[in-house]
Amino acid sequence: MKSQEPDPNYFSSSSSSFVSSTKWWSKETIAIVTGANKGIGFALVKRLAELGLTVILTARDVERGQRAVESLSEKGLPVNFFQLDVSDPSSIEAFVSWFKSNFAALDILKVRNPSIKSILEDEELSEEQIGRFVGLFLQSVKDGTWKSQGWPEIWTDYAVSKLALNAYTMVLAKRYEGEGISVNSYCPGFTQTSMTQGQGSHTADEAAGVGARLLLLHPQQLPTAKFYIGLDPFVKSNL
Ligand SMILES: NC(=O)c1ccc[n+]([C@@H]2O[C@H](COP(=O)([O-])OP(=O)(O)OC[C@H]3O[C@@H](n4cnc5c(N)ncnc54)[C@H](OP(=O)(O)O)[C@@H]3O)[C@@H](O)[C@H]2O)c1
Repeated sequence: MKSQEPDPNYFSSSSSSFVSSTKWWSKETIAIVTGANKGIGFALVKRLAELGLTVILTARDVERGQRAVESLSEKGLPVNFFQLDVSDPSSIEAFVSWFKSNFAALDILKVRNPSIKSILEDEELSEEQIGRFVGLFLQSVKDGTWKSQGWPEIWTDYAVSKLALNAYTMVLAKRYEGEGISVNSYCPGFTQTSMTQGQGSHTADEAAGVGARLLLLHPQQLPTAKFYIGLDPFVKSNL
């Protein structure tokens, strides 16, 4: 069935009516959250565990990850843990192998983020193109020409990495179209975490609350290839 846009009241409804009117998930629903020992990732693990899913908290540092798991366990929120450094292929391989031997199927994998609309909507967008685009940026940094070549002047490397992330979201969404797998990204805006030195217009819990609602849209309502941005009641897709 074709997905519909979520009801505008969906993001601002109270927590209890959100759960009672929309709950489709159960303890059998598995969510993996990467970079989850702190910040928005940690808050998302907490929210999804509160909502009753089986959550796998992953972190690149075992000690930091286990400390995060313990702090949730003390709140009565048991979650699973596995080490995962998303920039290390051998760590990804070990995680996939552990996951396959312990769980039947994956329902939710968290990712998120910002962009340049025209690149993202290019019908021909491919993994190779994203690699070339990032390669051009890295070369222009080495040459000292990035400014004159028109790369973003503010938050330059962050903006390029998020563009690549959003572009990859589009590639994956297209690859799995029609196979019951939705791939979207979400940017909650300026959030109080260690990345922003505690600055921001809202807490990580608030950002994670909206992220959880997006992830938990009913499968028949869950779109794919969208880039959501904002906080309730102003969550919208830029694509
Ligand atoms: N805060 C904001 O205003 C904001 C706004 C929009 C989007 N975002 C995005 O939201 C995401 C989380 O940000 P945050 O604000 O929650 O930052 P944060 O509190 O600094 O948390 C970042 C998390 O990512 C982990 N991490 C870093 N590199 C990793 C790797 N290679 N493999 C696995 N985990 C890794 C960190 O682990 P360690 O503790 O081991 O370093 C940490 O757990 C980022 O992608 C950020 O760009 C944030």
